[in-house]
Amino acid sequence: MDTKRIHVNESYYKEEVFKLGKILREGGLVAFPTETVYGLGGNALDADAAKKIYAAKGRPSDNPLIVHVSGRDEVEKYVEHVGSIENKLMEKFWPGPLTIVFPKKDIIPKETSGGGLDTVALRCPQNAATRALIKAAGVPLAGPSANISGRPSPTTADDVLHDMNGRISAVVDDGPCNIGLESTIIGVENGEIVVYRPGGITLEMLQEIGPARMDSNLIVDTGHPKAPGMKYRHYAPKAPLTVYTGDRDSAAAKILEKVHEGDVSKIGFFVSEETAKMLPEDAICYIWGKREDKESFAHNLFTGLLYFNEQPVEQIYGEGTDQAGIGRAIMNRLKKASGGHIVVEEKET
Ligand code: TXA
Ligand code: MG
Repeated sequence: MDTKRIHVNESYYKEEVFKLGKILREGGLVAFPTETVYGLGGNALDADAAKKIYAAKGRPSDNPLIVHVSGRDEVEKYVEHVGSIENKLMEKFWPGPLTIVFPKKDIIPKETSGGGLDTVALRCPQNAATRALIKAAGVPLAGPSANISGRPSPTTADDVLHDMNGRISAVVDDGPCNIGLESTIIGVENGEIVVYRPGGITLEMLQEIGPARMDSNLIVDTGHPKAPGMKYRHYAPKAPLTVYTGDRDSAAAKILEKVHEGDVSKIGFFVSEETAKMLPEDAICYIWGKREDKESFAHNLFTGLLYFNEQPVEQIYGEGTDQAGIGRAIMNRLKKASGGHIVVEEKET
C-alpha cells in the first residue's frame, strides 16, 4: 500500500475529506493532525479497524484507544452517563487537549477499548481538518498516536510517514502540531477529577473546575495504572537518555561535565538555549527552547528525541524542567523516555 500525503487546503475540504471519510468508514486507516500529536485513525465502531490499528503500530491490544469525536453533541451516542463535572469540563476545554474517560455503551466494541474495559476515553480535537474528517467519515475515530509502539509520538506528517509509510492509506498533513505532547487524560471518581496522564490541560487548569488530583498510580508508577498505556516503555530514543533536573544551575553543570567524561562526538545534548551556549561548538545538540519557555520544550520534545535517532550518538543527556503547569507532562514523558533515569540535583551550597 502506498501511503498518500494529503495537504489541508481548499481541495481538501471540497473533495479529499470525503474520499478519506469513505476509506475510514470502510475500515481503512488514515493518520490525522491534532493540536497535540498526529493520530492513527480508524473507525472506532469497527472491531476489525481497531485490530488493524494495533497491527500497524505493533501495539499490545490490551492498551485501549482514545476515541475522537467531532463535537460535544456526539458524546451521548457512545457513553452511558455524563455527569455534571464532565459536562463542565467539555464546555470549558473542548475542542482541545482533554480526554475524558466515561462508562461506555456497547456500540464501542471491546477491541477499541482494549479488551476488558467497560469505559471509553473520548476526546474532541481542535484541528478543524480533523473534525471535518470525523464528520465526513460519519463515525468516531479511534486514534492512538501514529508512531510504532514504544517510539516518540509524531508531531509532523514526516514523522508519521517515517513510521507508517506503507501501513496506512493516507496521512492528512496540516503542518507541525501546536502543543507537541499528548492530551491530558482524566476520569471523574467520586466527584473528584483524577488525572491519569498529564498533558496540555494542566492540573492547575482542572482545579479551577473542581477538586482535582494526580492519580497516585501514575505518580509513583507502581500498581496498575488507570491509563494502561502508562505501563509500557514509551517515547524511547535509540540511545539511552539520562535527564538532569532540580536546581537549574547544578543540573546544567552536571551536563557540562559530560563533555570531559568521554568521546564527546558520541554524546547528544538535549538542553535549553542557556546551557547550549556553554557547550563546545561541535557538540551534538538539540535545543528545546529558553529555560523559562515550557511551551517550547513541550513543542520540541518529541522532535528532539527523534533528532537523536539520526545522529551517531551512544548516550543522550537531557536537561529537565520543574513540575509546574505543563512541566508535569514534560517530565512525565521524559521519565518514560529515559526509563526512569531522572537525576534531581540539589542547589550547591
Ligand atoms: O493527544 C492524544 O491523546 C493523542 C491524539 C492522537 O489524540 N492520542 C494518544 O493516544 O495519545 P495513545 O493511544 O497514544 O494514548 C492513549 C492513552 C493510552 O495510555 C491508553 O491506555 C489510554 O489513553 N486510554 C485509552 N482508553 C482508556 C480508558 N478507557 N481508560 C483509561 N485509559 C485509557
Ligand atoms: Mg502514544
